[in-house]
Amino acid sequence: MPRKSVIAIDGPAGAGKSTIAKLLSQELGYRYVDTGAMYRALTWKALRDRVPFHSPEALSSLAKKTKLRFVQKKGVSRMLADGEDVTGRIRTQRVTRLTNTLAAVKGVRQVLRQRQREMGREGGVVMEGRDIGTAVFPQADFKFYLDASPMERALRRYRELKAKNKRVSLDSIAEAIRQRDYKDRTRGISPLKVAPGATVIDTTKMTLHDVFKFILNHVRREGRNGND
Ligand code: DC
Repeated sequence: MPRKSVIAIDGPAGAGKSTIAKLLSQELGYRYVDTGAMYRALTWKALRDRVPFHSPEALSSLAKKTKLRFVQKKGVSRMLADGEDVTGRIRTQRVTRLTNTLAAVKGVRQVLRQRQREMGREGGVVMEGRDIGTAVFPQADFKFYLDASPMERALRRYRELKAKNKRVSLDSIAEAIRQRDYKDRTRGISPLKVAPGATVIDTTKMTLHDVFKFILNHVRREGRNGND
């Protein structure tokens, strides 16, 4: 039986990567790896342990000694940091803002890149993030880059939070997205960019279903997948 594929999905915040990656992994029977959750989990732990964010050495050392693991519970992927379930706690605004700082540290990225490579070594994985197709798996069987206009991404996030009865303003979400885009794209190491050979999908005017169908058809047409 042929080896199962590595599918890399990159793109900016709010482009729909997580939803699509989850659906795809379920459909193909592949493992889903949310690399953003790994950066977030380290940020959460750094905050809890009062690790200074201005010290690249301290953050890298934290990355080296923290065990990060994904487990499936009731069909949902949960993030464990040293055995502790941090899935809910890594989604706060504070963690989101500081993750940018931690993710720009070379030593941290080296550690996480290595761990992510191990997670995908056997294939059969859908991995999403910012540098999967460029740095973690440049030889991935499939590389997709999902994008959407900043306003569309802000609107999607706004609707998501509104549905949860959160009090939010579209302006502040749009501004936060603008700042994250800027930081993700301009950092010195592994900045967000389109990987060579990646299929770019502008999802601004597409439904989730359209994007999912497009990617699934592409993967099925081009080759090896869980049903081969
Ligand atoms: O996808 P997300 O919003 O959960 O990502 C959180 C942060 O982590 C985001 O600011 C970018 C960073 N990140 C990264 O630098 N590299 C990755 N492979 C994934 C996320």
